[in-house]
Amino acid sequence: MSDLPHQILSALDKAPNGTIEDTKTAFPGVSTEQVQAAVTSLAAKSMVTFKAKEQDLWTLTAEAEDIVSNGSHEIRLYDEVVKSLEGLKISEVGKVLGPSGKLGQQRAFKNGWVRKDGDKLVKNVEEKPVDTTAQDLLAIKKEGTLADAKELADLKKRKLVTKTKLLSFAISKGPEFALEIQKLETDVTIEMIQSGAWKTAKFKPYNFSAEGASPGAGALHPLNKVREEFRQIFFSMGFTEMPTAQYVESGFWNFDALYVPQQHPARDLQDTFYLKNPTKADLPEDKKYLENIHAVHETGAYGSIGYRYPWKTEESQKLVLRTHTTAISAAMLHKLAKDPKPARYFSIDRVFRNEAVDATHLAEFHQVEGVIADYNLTLGDLIGFMERFFAKMGVHQLRFKAAYNPYTEPSMEIFGWHGGLGKWVEIGNSGMFRPEMLESMGLPKDMRVHGWGLSLERPTMIKYGVSNIRELLGHKVSLDFIENNPAVRLDEDLV
Ligand code: PHE
Repeated sequence: MSDLPHQILSALDKAPNGTIEDTKTAFPGVSTEQVQAAVTSLAAKSMVTFKAKEQDLWTLTAEAEDIVSNGSHEIRLYDEVVKSLEGLKISEVGKVLGPSGKLGQQRAFKNGWVRKDGDKLVKNVEEKPVDTTAQDLLAIKKEGTLADAKELADLKKRKLVTKTKLLSFAISKGPEFALEIQKLETDVTIEMIQSGAWKTAKFKPYNFSAEGASPGAGALHPLNKVREEFRQIFFSMGFTEMPTAQYVESGFWNFDALYVPQQHPARDLQDTFYLKNPTKADLPEDKKYLENIHAVHETGAYGSIGYRYPWKTEESQKLVLRTHTTAISAAMLHKLAKDPKPARYFSIDRVFRNEAVDATHLAEFHQVEGVIADYNLTLGDLIGFMERFFAKMGVHQLRFKAAYNPYTEPSMEIFGWHGGLGKWVEIGNSGMFRPEMLESMGLPKDMRVHGWGLSLERPTMIKYGVSNIRELLGHKVSLDFIENNPAVRLDEDLV
């Protein structure tokens, strides 16, 4: 027996109009999937054309199958009544016919086949009636349906038939119809050109609806996509990127330079990761600067009374995984102090904090940080700048709340209105760097510096609808998620 595609071709060849009206009747017993695969492959070679047809298919329940083989309950009751010459005692019906006896009795009554005679059932018609129930069911078994819709509905109500959908196909000869299936060429080869075989070769037509093979290219992580958007915003506002490719910092740059006292809780082991090895960091070569920092912490300077505690060099020599990129901002400002002039710096990179990990926190995250140095800046300038900056990421309503940072005064938490969530969400921290920090570096008194920071993860999670940070970073991240996510537009509905 030849395979299904060949069977279809020879059936088409023999068919009167070159058409098979219904594959279900032409190829009974062959599954829809097999027929579909065969016709689509033949159609791809233009050997056939086809149309899918969906129709109702009625099938028999187990009870109905039993009726087809052994007759309906009512005809079985009639037979029993005829058999028992004296009539069938109503009380015996269950015993003789089993659980369906009562149903048979009801229907035989309704059909007028039997009547009551005292406590017995006797026949009401002489000739054995036609068992229409069994006949109809047999027809459905063969045809999959019944012409008499009312009867069909009745059988359905009696739970004798159930409806399913049937997919079948109407097939016609196509322009390339033949009884043999030619292997079609997919490429012109060197050999075909040399031998001239290409002139007679048959080529497979292009399938324009086939999905292309996906090129195995790399993909930017969503965090990197959002990072790139932020970089463009900074560049468009005249900022220069700071060199942040170094995760390990000294306690000096991470804390002391920022006027964070050596007893500050942020410096505790519970909050900061310290390195065991190497044990000591190099301190800045600018001895004057070191002395200034020492003095401003211990005794005060530049109009500040200081923290008044014994400042220890060893504390600032400890190595830490940086807890904020503000350590780099401090180093950049120290460089700027050699030749003070207005400047704008930014960075977007990783920072580390010894935090309990939960759905929205890891022990590391990315900080977006900006710093603006200029003469005679005011808090109003900072607020105005924040409004322009966040407007570029689609946040148009801001609120500021007084806050505390050891290195800024005043300090402000920034809140943005999140239209989607219908509430104010905290989006950043900001402030004006303290004179204790800036003047120690040698920056002129009238040069003020604004700074602010926010996390990269937060807007990324909002943008990509991620509620658990472990789906964004780490070993549980699905590669599909990385590869298939589109780029973002920060200026559209972030908040
Ligand atoms: N370093 C701050 C933080 O970790 C951000 C900040 C930077 C605040 C600069 C003020 C000035 O949140």
